[in-house]
Amino acid sequence: MNVSVVVGLQWGDEGKGKIIDYMSEDYEAAVRFNGGSNAGHTVTVNGKRVVFHLIPSAALRGKKLYIGPGVTIDPVQLIKEYNELGNVQLKVDPRATVVTPFDIWLDRKLEEMRGSAIGTTGRGIGTSFAGRMFRFSPRVCDIASGIVPDYGPMFTAFNYNPSEMKKWEEDSTLYLREHMADVPWELMQIYEKGGKILFESAQGTLLDPLYGTYPYVTSSNTIAPYVSIGAGFPFNRVDDIIGVMKAYQTRVGSGPFPTELSGSLADLIRQNGAEFGSTTGRPRRVGWLDLVSVKYATRLNQVNRIVVTKLDALSGLENLRVATRYNYQGKSSSDFTRSLYDKPEPEYVELDPIPDADWASISKRGYDSLPAQAKRLVELVEQELKVDVWLVSVGQERGMTVVA
Ligand code: GDP
Ligand code: IMO
Ligand code: MG
Repeated sequence: MNVSVVVGLQWGDEGKGKIIDYMSEDYEAAVRFNGGSNAGHTVTVNGKRVVFHLIPSAALRGKKLYIGPGVTIDPVQLIKEYNELGNVQLKVDPRATVVTPFDIWLDRKLEEMRGSAIGTTGRGIGTSFAGRMFRFSPRVCDIASGIVPDYGPMFTAFNYNPSEMKKWEEDSTLYLREHMADVPWELMQIYEKGGKILFESAQGTLLDPLYGTYPYVTSSNTIAPYVSIGAGFPFNRVDDIIGVMKAYQTRVGSGPFPTELSGSLADLIRQNGAEFGSTTGRPRRVGWLDLVSVKYATRLNQVNRIVVTKLDALSGLENLRVATRYNYQGKSSSDFTRSLYDKPEPEYVELDPIPDADWASISKRGYDSLPAQAKRLVELVEQELKVDVWLVSVGQERGMTVVA
């Protein structure tokens, strides 16, 4: 398969970065097509941990890297990431939106002003995408050609001191000029020559502004078809959609979470899985795997293969549950959409807990050597989603990935 899209099937942080790095060995190019530096995609190779916010997670493999017009780009973050990585082959589409210091300031201000905060990453994502719709936000090509956004009256209206904008513009202009390219055109060139392309979604399906748990969502679409908008790549040439899911559920920020856990069990899973935000360091909320929502996400994305991550983080618990249905006012249902307006009670399947195990050694020996209890969970996922599990991940390291 030549064109693959990797999407998250939960509320983000499913381990997409690790899987992009793992898969990208076989691809010529990797592409970000949505979100911005709200994403934090972690790759760990030989104990060295790298967190990507804007640059595709295939960077450690020396691949061609692209950022499509559907991404909102904070140049300060991009330059920092680029310099830390050394020389990578990065191209940025001139039409992409740019996050300004004003967007970041306003994102944080709006959070303070809301009755109930979203818990955004504070990276100016919602404000810059909204600015794009308002036709205020600058594009990469505007900044690169020295066109300064004329926000004067807005700054006054919002009581914002624009002193930080000047230095920001100077640094950004030079850098963006050097890296601009027509990303859709370059991708089509690669495709027509038979090259393989890997698209990397940020966030997860349940954070999609249309299909997720609105208003507790992000501000650009996270589902696979957005590739055709956010990277200008025709969706009818995509032949592989990979859904990444954790073996349990996590969420950063506010919003509904039917299977959420609290107390010492939540603390234990959070600790086992090191569930602290890759972008903000915030402790992630944790809960049992919710296959009602994951099934919804699988269908919406038309996923054809599944990756289950972090099975190792469930080992050593006293019990193990997976929600397979919701109960609405006494009635059992598999409908996720209704949970957007009616509060469900999850219905759980009890599984035998996964024992402590030597996951490094298991990942070398292959799928058969996984504890039977872990394999049972994988079977349940396949049975409920009706899609094959292709990979399981049992540790942070690149190599701790097993073909199922
Ligand atoms: P992403 O946003 O989907 O790329 O995921 P993040 O990188 O934000 O969060 C996933 C976290 O789990 C990172 O710290 C990864 O290093 C880590 N991780 C990924 N897969 C596994 C796994 O199978 N086991 C464990 N223990 N950690 C994993
Ligand atoms: P990756 O790509 C997890 C969440 C924020 C907040 C909501 C809106 O690493 O999976 P925003 O800053 O986008 O306006 O915040 O979305 N959020 C994420 N949660 N992983 C992410 O990205 C996220 N990107 C945004 O926590 O609840
Ligand atoms: Mg993340």
